[in-house]
Amino acid sequence: MQKFVIHGGKRLEGDITVQGAKNSALPILSAAMLCEGENILENCPELSDVYAACQILTSAGCQCRMQNHTVSIKADTVRNSEIPESLMQEMRSSIIFLGAMLGRTGTCILGYPGGCELGPRPIDLHLQAFQKMGVKIQEESGILTCTTPNGLHGAKIHLQFPSVGATENIMLAAVLARGETVITNAAREPEIVDLAQYLRTCGANLRGEGSSTIVIQGVKKLTGCTYRIMPDRIVTATWLAAAASAGGTIRLLQADTVSLEGILDVFEQMNCSCSHTENTICFSAGKPLRAVRFLKTMPYPGFPTDAQAIVMAVLCKANGTSVIEETIFENRFRHVDALVRMGADIQVTGHAAVIHGVKQLHGAPVSATDLRGGAALLVAGLGAQGETVLTELSHIDRGYDSPELLLRSLGADIRRI
Ligand code: EPZ
Repeated sequence: MQKFVIHGGKRLEGDITVQGAKNSALPILSAAMLCEGENILENCPELSDVYAACQILTSAGCQCRMQNHTVSIKADTVRNSEIPESLMQEMRSSIIFLGAMLGRTGTCILGYPGGCELGPRPIDLHLQAFQKMGVKIQEESGILTCTTPNGLHGAKIHLQFPSVGATENIMLAAVLARGETVITNAAREPEIVDLAQYLRTCGANLRGEGSSTIVIQGVKKLTGCTYRIMPDRIVTATWLAAAASAGGTIRLLQADTVSLEGILDVFEQMNCSCSHTENTICFSAGKPLRAVRFLKTMPYPGFPTDAQAIVMAVLCKANGTSVIEETIFENRFRHVDALVRMGADIQVTGHAAVIHGVKQLHGAPVSATDLRGGAALLVAGLGAQGETVLTELSHIDRGYDSPELLLRSLGADIRRI
């Protein structure tokens, strides 16, 4: 089992380039299945979740080749519309292939995605929407069989909650469906805008992405294109948090500054200084760090749930008391126990965490419990005194492309063993 050995307290200095966004690459890889001809996706991060997505495409009959952060997909020979059970369990977000398989073949067989470490991950909003689009869904001992006996057609769909995955899945099913689909209360995340721009480049007819209402006119066919995946805003937030925690001044190149407004504002509240040009962020850690009285995770453009754990890791050493309310996921405070073991003073009551800043954290043996919780422990270890040994790296490798190489280039003392 691999682990990170981190000796904290080293200031971070220098420039790093931000990786492509996992949460944009996954729906775009799924969308590639809808296209005739070849897709070339550039700036694709090399992550276990991306490899799993390529395996699903291959098992469906696509040709999928990844090298040096570029993925080539040919989907002319899609013959199978089944998502392998093993991959459904390995990567919960495999549900994003349902919409594209329905759009391409009209059928899909998949296992009910298990919950994950963040809590139950229901897909009721996805399934309700597909039923309105003419999909018949049978469930038999955990296996869903989806068919479209009268073809896939557009529908008016109001989402009870602006679900990112449901919004993306509906878009993937709608672009080749008969007629018009209108999604109201759609999610507004930047990754949805990236997916829409990719689909439009392939010939899709849609508008409104980034707002709460997306309108899609089905077209006859989509043609593969070359597309560059947007930068990962949560990975960007992670490196900012690492610099805030360890101290220092870093520059992030090829960052997407527009989608980071809400996050940069929180770091400025913590007394860090952030300035940015169009795609470069200059960042200096706050001395001392200031507590943030109240933070609440919300759908975009609110403060993102994916940045909650990594910001909490920084607040552990801020002057004063901070309160974070997690409103998106049931169980997204699993990193708190390990932070407390490193000397943090945090109380969790229900969906709120109260963080009393302490002078220092000390290194400890800790385990990652989920992707962003693991990133939070990495951030805390970089700013702690002494040695932190971080295990269960498979969680981190789902979303971060060679993090130790990147952090070492900034002066961090971190080794993967
Ligand atoms: C996406 O997950 C992201 N994953 C998550 O990032 C992110 O945390 C989340 O959006 C919120 O921004 C990918 O894009 C691959 P949701 P998704 O559907 O689509 C409930 C990371 O760290 N819900 O917006 O699954 C659900 O239970 C990952 O990179 C239903 O009730 O998020 C949750 O409480 C973690 N019924 C809330 O909505 C449904 O049918 C948000 O879920 C669907 C969702």
